[in-house]
Amino acid sequence: MVTIKSEKEIELMRESCRIVKETLDFVGKNIRAGMTTKEVDELVFRYITSCGAKPSCLGYEGYPASACVSVNEVVVHGIPSDRILVDGDIVSVDITAEKHGFNGDAARTFLIGNVSEEKRQLVKVTEECFFKAIENLGAGVPLYDIGYAVQTHAESHGYGVVRALVGHGIGREMHEDPSVPNYGKKGTGMRLKAGMTICIEPMITMGTYKVNFSREDGWTVTTADGLPAAHYENTVLIKDGGVEILTL
Ligand code: MF3
Ligand code: CO
Ligand code: CO
Repeated sequence: MVTIKSEKEIELMRESCRIVKETLDFVGKNIRAGMTTKEVDELVFRYITSCGAKPSCLGYEGYPASACVSVNEVVVHGIPSDRILVDGDIVSVDITAEKHGFNGDAARTFLIGNVSEEKRQLVKVTEECFFKAIENLGAGVPLYDIGYAVQTHAESHGYGVVRALVGHGIGREMHEDPSVPNYGKKGTGMRLKAGMTICIEPMITMGTYKVNFSREDGWTVTTADGLPAAHYENTVLIKDGGVEILTL
């Protein structure tokens, strides 16, 4: 079911989304080589709870941490561990926070130390994919125009667009309808309505778009060819004539 948020609910969404944004800024200031991904998770837990919010991922379908920390070939849902970040890594940190019953969700891919030009380009294009997707977005626009924009931009650089995972609606639940794929045919899908809040989250790979789901931990998603992937996500409010990015 697609939910339309009232003005009051949107105010609450703004608050949780602001906390998510601030948490990511805090991570960006502190993340560095030598740190374990578990230490990144601790930063996230500390910041979110200090804002009187709750990390929505913790315990979600048994997920054991506050953040998803995904290094290089890990696309998303990397479980924080003793893996040490090293110079040249790219690290997606994806977090969801709930306050007053509403969720905000965003992800950034951080650069650790000296990152190769090739990987920096991947991270940059992944961010651009998000901004291409919102360029002409607003009430009345067909849903799959989002995926069309992401896919067109990513593939023009020779990158892969992950199909197995998608963006989503968000609100009282972390994952609500509709699904928001990063691929699609222009002019198709439901028409977006003012008051919808959705997460647009391009997951872009340097090689194949095919991914594997870990059989060991049930979560970690890696590229099938082991090449790096990047991830960028914001929670977006659909309005008449445009959008508001709630996590920026
Ligand atoms: N934040 C992720 C998303 O963008 C969801 C992570 S679910 C978790 O949809 F359980 F893995 F944390
Ligand atoms: Co997320
Ligand atoms: Co999301």
